Amino acid sequence: MSHSHHADTPAHQGHLDHDGRGHGEHGHDDAASESGGADLLDLDGEVLRAYWDTALDRVTAAMTSLPTTRQARVVDLGAGTGTGSLGLARRLPDAEVVAVDVSELALSRIDAKARAAGLADRVRTLLADLDAGWPDLEPIDLTWASMSLHHLADPTRALSDLRRITRDGGLVAVAEFDEPLRFLPDDLGVGRPGFETRALEVLSAVHAEALPTIGASWAELLGEAGWTVVDEHDVVIDERSPDHPLAGRYARAWFDRLSHGLTDRLDAEDLHTLEALLDDDGPHALLRRSDLHLHGVRTLTIARR
Ligand SMILES: C[S@@+](CC[C@H](N)C(=O)[O-])C[C@H]1O[C@@H](n2cnc3c(N)ncnc32)[C@H](O)[C@@H]1O
Repeated sequence: MSHSHHADTPAHQGHLDHDGRGHGEHGHDDAASESGGADLLDLDGEVLRAYWDTALDRVTAAMTSLPTTRQARVVDLGAGTGTGSLGLARRLPDAEVVAVDVSELALSRIDAKARAAGLADRVRTLLADLDAGWPDLEPIDLTWASMSLHHLADPTRALSDLRRITRDGGLVAVAEFDEPLRFLPDDLGVGRPGFETRALEVLSAVHAEALPTIGASWAELLGEAGWTVVDEHDVVIDERSPDHPLAGRYARAWFDRLSHGLTDRLDAEDLHTLEALLDDDGPHALLRRSDLHLHGVRTLTIARR
């Protein structure tokens, strides 16, 4: 695990609208951007299913050590569009799952998925800004925090407050990027080689300013917040485009969001490459490439109160 600054996916850059502006200032473009972010999170759940299964199975296995005298309460912190909420509800058939997020759009997608899956009686959504403090959710048995803590203004304080409302022996499981997701071969057949490396460097520099805890050691931060780390595990993401029909769509959604945020920092040749990748009718279109290799590492850290 290298805990240097790493680039996160564009959907992971900020709140779902990833523009750094406060909520309540949304215009038309922001709504479209928020919906694009939600689509990207949905694709993350579908294309990286193997990663999600490994991570959620490991968290569920850690839960078996808790005594079951009452219905367990599971919180999905910064739930996004609910891949974790729904996955945990399926794996823990007696638990109540509370999906907390600051995005109404994301929560409405979770409500719809929970209804469709017949899980609406056990999965509920709660709109809350965790920078303003924790809603009254005591006592919590397990909190799943995937790619969300680095968005908070003070994650250590949030983890310390969370510890206070977690039952004795209860768990928190944090999933964060260790190595950023990559999609592309070095030579794309357009532009000069190394496009993705340069784009990730730019993204990483933006994140170093805007989201300073990306790439932090979450084991250390959990320790500072009073938690006892019981498991730290790297889960490798490794998917190829011919094997996964949605990989091209995921890559397209990823680079489309990148194109909104970073165009002023890429040079003219790289901008041209980005346009070629996003041109769905062109010869280099992400949607139709068979040479995509999705590769990255997410670290799962589980801690006990
Ligand atoms: C990158 S997404 C991760 C979503 C989901 N956990 C996943 O892994 O697919 C980060 C989520 O954190 C939410 N978020 C960011 N800041 C928040 C805050 N202050 N309070 C509550 N949720 C927040 C965003 O709205 C977004 O849904």
